[in-house]
Amino acid sequence: MIAIAAMTPSRVIGRGSQIPWRISGEQKWFKEATLGHPILMGSRTFESIGRPLPGRRNLVVSRNRSWPGVEIVRDLSTFDPTQYSPEVFVIGGAEIYSQLIDHCRELLITRVKHEYDGDAYFPEFESKFRLVEPIRETTDYVIERWARQRRAPARQCIA
Ligand SMILES: NC(=O)c1ccc[n+]([C@@H]2O[C@H](COP(=O)([O-])OP(=O)(O)OC[C@H]3O[C@@H](n4cnc5c(N)ncnc54)[C@H](OP(=O)(O)O)[C@@H]3O)[C@@H](O)[C@H]2O)c1
Repeated sequence: MIAIAAMTPSRVIGRGSQIPWRISGEQKWFKEATLGHPILMGSRTFESIGRPLPGRRNLVVSRNRSWPGVEIVRDLSTFDPTQYSPEVFVIGGAEIYSQLIDHCRELLITRVKHEYDGDAYFPEFESKFRLVEPIRETTDYVIERWARQRRAPARQCIA
């Protein structure tokens, strides 16, 4: 799985049910990256978007609610991303990122340069992932690709 998120320098991703910024080009990037892929999101994120996103299988995580036009995931602990093709994108919010980050092989992080107040945060990931490349940079943000760090090889015993 790949997680895609936008966060401020202090890791804010949302305030109330909304993303507290509108930055030109950022939504276009999200669409470009996720189009054609299944997208997995928490019910609060789905409700804040307000409709299924077109051109993608919309997988919504909720313990007991349902909505038309989306597929419901009741139990994240038994969710099997290998059943989906192409690869699943995890699109938030905070609860879903924190439960799935350890199962993601890659992160696409938009680092918003300005600070905004918020109450939803992206989890710490820098100790488990390595920066592969900056994909795009503007005056407002930089988009980065991060990959899961490979475990250090076991030390060989040299006789
Ligand atoms: N900046 C970004 O890139 C970005 C991206 C996405 C979202 N956001 C922001 O993030 C915030 C929303 O995040 P959030 O953490 O409040 O909500 P969320 O992660 O979108 O959704 C939480 C909901 O998901 C369901 N859920 C969570 N864990 C579950 C599990 N293990 N099994 C079954 N259902 C589970 C529950 O739904 P039920 O209550 O229905 O059971 C829970 O209330 C908003 O501010 C939004 O704007 C930001």
